[in-house]
This record gives sequence, structure tokens and C-alpha cells, in this order.
Amino acid sequence: MNITIANSSILDVEADLLAIAVTPDTLSETLGAISEAFGGTLLDTLENDEFTGKAGSSASYATFGKIAAKRLIVLGMGDADTSGIQQAAGQAGHAARSRGVSSVALAMGTLDSTQSQLAIEAFYAGTYRFDKYKAEDKRKAPASQLTLIGDVNAEGVKRGQAVGGGQDLARDLVNEPAAAIYPESLADVALSLASDTMTVDVWDENKILAAGMGGIMGVGQGSDRKPRFIHMIYKPAGTPRKKIALVGKGVTFDAGGYSLKPSGSMLTMRCDMAGSAAVIGAMKSIRDLAPDVEVHGIVGAVENLVSGNAYKLGDILTMYSGKTVEIHNTDAEGRLVLADCITYASKLDVDCIVDLATLTGAAVVALGDHYVALFSKDDDLSSSLLNSSVDAGENVWQLPLPDHYKDQLKAEWGTIKNVGGRSAGCITAALFLSEFVDGPKWAHMDIAGPAFLDKKFRHFVPGGTGVMVPTLTRFVES
Ligand code: BES
Ligand code: MN
Ligand code: ZN
Repeated sequence: MNITIANSSILDVEADLLAIAVTPDTLSETLGAISEAFGGTLLDTLENDEFTGKAGSSASYATFGKIAAKRLIVLGMGDADTSGIQQAAGQAGHAARSRGVSSVALAMGTLDSTQSQLAIEAFYAGTYRFDKYKAEDKRKAPASQLTLIGDVNAEGVKRGQAVGGGQDLARDLVNEPAAAIYPESLADVALSLASDTMTVDVWDENKILAAGMGGIMGVGQGSDRKPRFIHMIYKPAGTPRKKIALVGKGVTFDAGGYSLKPSGSMLTMRCDMAGSAAVIGAMKSIRDLAPDVEVHGIVGAVENLVSGNAYKLGDILTMYSGKTVEIHNTDAEGRLVLADCITYASKLDVDCIVDLATLTGAAVVALGDHYVALFSKDDDLSSSLLNSSVDAGENVWQLPLPDHYKDQLKAEWGTIKNVGGRSAGCITAALFLSEFVDGPKWAHMDIAGPAFLDKKFRHFVPGGTGVMVPTLTRFVES
């Protein structure tokens, strides 16, 4: 998509679709001239249509040649806060893609650098579709031209494109069926992102086995698609100000193993690599944003299936850290994969580790489909992540990590069990992971709810959301 900033008037701009975002206060002033061009009718029509400028609201009209643009959509952005800007720009992208138009003009008034970035990210998010498996006549191409009208910040627009591109990649990776995205092909996508500033190293199953990563090997042994361990490193040109590791759960399909999931719960389990998609998407954005921070992207990629070779209940896995884990449920596999990755990240001399995973249904029960659950014992790290999420307009909520809940993980034969009891499943999962952190500050984000939408929400179509790419990129730069 080609994006330009223009100083044209909203009456003269030529586009298939002109989207104008207003607040209740700016509505009549912004639309006065167009209303006049329409013979004084637009403002009355909007009033009849009960459009008041509320965030997320919209009204769409044909222009009958009265202005240069072919169609007009008026978008409410409430008081133009983060969510208002996001919803308006997101609806603009969504409407443009639904209509299959090739040129869009977007007028949102004055946007500073932060707001410009946010608007572009949301426009990307609204534009996104996963329609490559649809018949050709059912697909609509994204607009090739976006013209931004008004006082918009060019640097912010560029940054928004970098983040939007990474988020689109994360969504594609989640949406692709497990037949297309499996450990090896996921690693190939990571390899394709290598550049002057980004190296990508992939270990095959022999190397993972030789290293002693018993968590990754144990979960992955039931599949013909062998595990991969992925280590991406972004290095800035100068001396890095900080070193950060992002770790992602890359279970490309989670059948549950012998603790088999019921069919309904298994249906969307291609989404179980959304943590790794967030990491790989964020690494792409980070490469393009070029911050002065060193960032490691680490992914354990496996499939959790049933076969004559799959791991079993009662198995005892020897992890990369040397700890042994009793398997009480083969469906609690993500923590085993992540544990090895976290041990690896602990050896890297980084300041902090942030892991992302579709780890537990319990996180969805606790916070629903629209909040990421954050866990950390480090207050600086958690506030930094929370602040980044507020800036990005993504929802993150912190839950506690009480040490005494670890009693639920007490093992009979090994160091630790891989599941606790019925209560606080997302907390005991996080506590399990904490046992494998050795040195750096650490935070865990359970994205099981927001990573994948069963139905449309605002300007997000169903499927993968690319959640946390906007938050992670801001976090890295903060
Ligand atoms: N991948 C699932 C968690 C999940 C659930 C992700 C719903 C996205 C949506 C994870 O591997 C899992 O199966 N967790 C179990 C853990 C339990 C066995 C302790 C769960 O949440 O039921
Ligand atoms: Mn599972
Ligand atoms: Zn899983």
C-alpha cells in the first residue's frame, strides 16, 4: 500500500472512498463544507441517522459527483483518545477492504507522531483479510493508495507501517492451517526475515536432542513433523542500550496428545503458535524500526499429536535446565516447550525475558477474549509492559504470582509436575514457567483469549489478531 500525506481539501481529493473521522465537537465544523456541497443536507442526514460522533460509529453515503471522492464514510472517534482513533481508522480500513476499493483518502484532523502511528496500525488491522483460500471472485484486493489529509506526522506513519506489517505477518501465521505452518515451515518464515541487522539460527530435532531440550523433544515426539528451535537476533548498529529476549510458544497444532482435546476445542488449535507469531511478527517490525536495543526472538516449534511415539502420562522428562517434570496431562504441553526456551534465554546475558503463549483456557475463563493476562514479579518490567500496552491500545491485565500456589505442582518422583489442580490454572502455569527462569527479569503473557477471535470484533475479522505485536514493539523501544 502506497501512503502519501496530502494537503488537499476534502472537497477536491480524488478517491474511491473518502473517510472522515470526527468527534462530537468537530462534527459540524469538519463537515460544513461537504454539507454545503450536498445542498446543505449532510449534517441533517447525519442527525437523522443518529450519528453523533461516538467512537466506533459510522455512516456511509454516495456522493453523486458533488465532491471529487466517489463515496463518503463519516467515522466517530469519540473524544479522539487512543481507542477512538483506533476504532475510526480501523473502520476506515475495514470499509475500504469490504468494498474492494483501490484508493482511500483518510481525514482525521491533526495527528501527532504517536497518533499517526496508531491510526496507520489500525488502518492496517481493519484492512487485513485472510482470503487466499477463497475463490478468486470472492477475494477483494487491499487498497493500493492511501492518502492522508491534514496535519499528519510522516515519521509516525512510517512507524505504523512497520508495526502493521509485523502484525499482518503474525495474523497470517496464525490463520494458516497446520498443514501449511508446521515447525519446519514456521522456521523457514523466520529465516526469510534475516537481514544485515538480523541473524536467524534454526536447530533441527537432532540438535535439540543433543542440547538436552527434553521438554521440546517430549512434546514433539508424537508428530512426523519434527520440532525446530528458532533463535533470531536483531542487533542495532551501535552499542545496544538494553538486551531483551522475546520467547514464543510455537505449538503449530495442539491436539492435546493422549490427554486428547474434544473435537470442538481442537478445531482452532492451529492458533496455538500465536505466541511465536507475535514474536516473529514483532521481530520483523523491530528489524524495520531499527531501535538501539538488542532483541532476541526465541521460539520452540512443535506439534502436540497422538501416535505410537507420542509422550505419555506418567512420563518423566529431563528438561534443558536439568530439572525433571512428571507428565500428569499431555495437554499442558506449552509450558514444557516454553520452559526449555526460557532456560536458553536465561543463558543469553539479557536484561529481561518476556514470553508469550496461548497457554491456558484458564486465562480465558479469568479475563475473557479481550484481555491478555500478564504475570511478573518485577514491578518495573510489568509497569513497562502495561504502559506499552496502553500506548498501543491493547488490553493487558496483571494477575498475581503467589509462591504458595506452587504447592499444587509438588511432584512425587520428579522435580515438579506439569499441572496443578483445578483452581487458578493460568497462575500455576505461570509459576511452573518461573521455575525455569535463571537470572534475568521475567514476565509471562498468556494470550489464549485475544490471540484468536471466533467472531468479528470491531474492525478485526475472525481468526488470528496478531495481538501484542504493537505492545512488544513499543516495549522494546521504551
Ligand atoms: N493451547 C492450550 C490453551 C488454550 C486454550 C489456548 C484455549 C487457546 C484457547 C493449552 O495447551 C492447554 O491445552 N492448556 C490446558 C492446560 C490444562 C491441561 C492444565 C487447558 O487450559 O485446559
Ligand atoms: Mn494443550
Ligand atoms: Zn497448547
